[in-house]
Amino acid sequence: MSDINNTNGEAHLLTKAEKYELLNSKHEAAELGGGERRIESQHKRGKLTARERLTLLLDDGSFEETGKFVEHRAIDFGLDKEVYLGDGVVTGYGTINGRLVYVYSQDFTVFGGSLSETHAEKICKVMDMAMKNGAPVIGLNDSGGARIQEGVVSLGGYADIFYRNTRASGVIPQISAIMGPCAGGAVYSPAITDFIFMVENTSYMFVTGPNVVKTVTQEDVTAEELGGASTHSTKSGVTHFASANEVECINNIKQLLSYIPQNCEEDAPVYEYADDNEVRAKLNSIIPDNPNQPYDMKEVIEHLVDADSFFEVHKNYAENIIVGFARIGGRSIGIIGNQPASLAGVLDNDASTKGARFVRFCDSFNVPLLVLEDVPGFLPGTDQEWNGIITNGAKLLYAFSEATVPRITVITRKAYGGAYDVMNSKHIGADLNYAWPMAEIAVMGAKGAAEIIFRKEIAAADDKEAKLQEKVDEYTAKFANPYRAARRGYIDEVIVPEDTRKKLIRAFKMLENKVDTLPKKKHGNIPL
Ligand code: HXC
Repeated sequence: MSDINNTNGEAHLLTKAEKYELLNSKHEAAELGGGERRIESQHKRGKLTARERLTLLLDDGSFEETGKFVEHRAIDFGLDKEVYLGDGVVTGYGTINGRLVYVYSQDFTVFGGSLSETHAEKICKVMDMAMKNGAPVIGLNDSGGARIQEGVVSLGGYADIFYRNTRASGVIPQISAIMGPCAGGAVYSPAITDFIFMVENTSYMFVTGPNVVKTVTQEDVTAEELGGASTHSTKSGVTHFASANEVECINNIKQLLSYIPQNCEEDAPVYEYADDNEVRAKLNSIIPDNPNQPYDMKEVIEHLVDADSFFEVHKNYAENIIVGFARIGGRSIGIIGNQPASLAGVLDNDASTKGARFVRFCDSFNVPLLVLEDVPGFLPGTDQEWNGIITNGAKLLYAFSEATVPRITVITRKAYGGAYDVMNSKHIGADLNYAWPMAEIAVMGAKGAAEIIFRKEIAAADDKEAKLQEKVDEYTAKFANPYRAARRGYIDEVIVPEDTRKKLIRAFKMLENKVDTLPKKKHGNIPL
């Protein structure tokens, strides 16, 4: 059965047994991708093949493939003589923990996983099915970019995918894993999707590679430094997750899916939980006595949520804000927490953008929000101002204000200045706002406030230091507490830390059927 790639109409001349044989040989050829030699080379680089990745990702035996026998249509540069069934991408659907997902997995052994007209059509087909049937799309990317021999049809194929990514945004979850090269315009499909996963040392993303960079800017940089997983998980924030290897990456994708619904009309799955330890005494001792001493907000999270349920997103980027999924009382929530252990938990450009993006994902997909607030304000300075802290801070403010999912805030300590408003305050639509007894809710810190409003008095004093301290103490006594806000109803309740988990479980349950709608509009204009 030598001519399996080009049987056209001649199959009818075969006997029934030969027809079965033909089918089997086509399956075998498709499953071999670019051949043993290239599979071996893929393995030598520490990478799995497209099919091996899908086997790990999907429930055993659940994968149903589409377009397995698709062939490219190119004829230039001898391509008519080099045809691989499936054309460099494995597509179809299957289940992960019993839940439907659509998948595509690029096969680097076939023309370097490059994207041809037909390769793009296969990806578009699964995206269209995912949209019609309301289930996530997961793309495993490993590609040399546009199929160079095909020219503009390949560029058209990319645009067809970008268009669908955009249309699907907010309708079904879209997840991209980068497991090899992803360069040039190809990076813009993952960039539009909800979450990007990368693998350390074997994947990279950049718009222009090291050679072009060298020509244009004279910079010497390796592919890994320019666009590897650690670069994008720490410096640019392009990737949300960096994994040590492909197996870990795939496991992380599965874990992420456990917190989110199938589409924007559904809720995330609810898990069983043990309701025997809802009072968490450890929470009482996390906040230090000294209000200027840092602590780790992740410790607060750990003691608030269901055991081992916190799944951090964007872990190594803008560490002064924490975002991630967790379960509380078995239900999914998205957590946004200031991190006093990093830059005192201040809001800066990167933290604002990181937080805003996460809030918008959760709101798109009906995941309730919990804000843990300990924020001294926005970071001052030319670096911040010149890089747009006004616009970026507004993104976070806008994202919270627009969110219609259940929203709860717990002020654990500081809530100062504009950051008080931004971090899901009552005024921008939060449903319930709690404060711990150590909370300090004020326009600014006591020292800065005293220096401004008592300037003349301090200047006139014989002992300026003593006068300043007296005024600082006066301001602290008046404002560094949660009761002024509670008096006005900006805080619904001042609660002790150990009761917080119990309160949150009840509150999120109470808010389960919340209905809130936005004014009729085409769409808002978030300050991008
Ligand atoms: C066709 C390609 C290809 C491509 C790789 N191959 N990229 N074939 N079109 N874009 C083929 C190679 O010929 C080779 O075939 C096989 O894939 C493996 O490639 P190698 O070069 O041997 O692998 P490696 O050394 O690992 O290098 C991988 C690579 C390199 C870094 C991706 O192949 C590369 O630089 N490729 C070109 C990248 C590129 O410029 N793409 C176009 C970008 S423009 P054999 O037969 O030997 O196995 C673009 C525009 C998109 O993508 C715009 C959207 C808006």
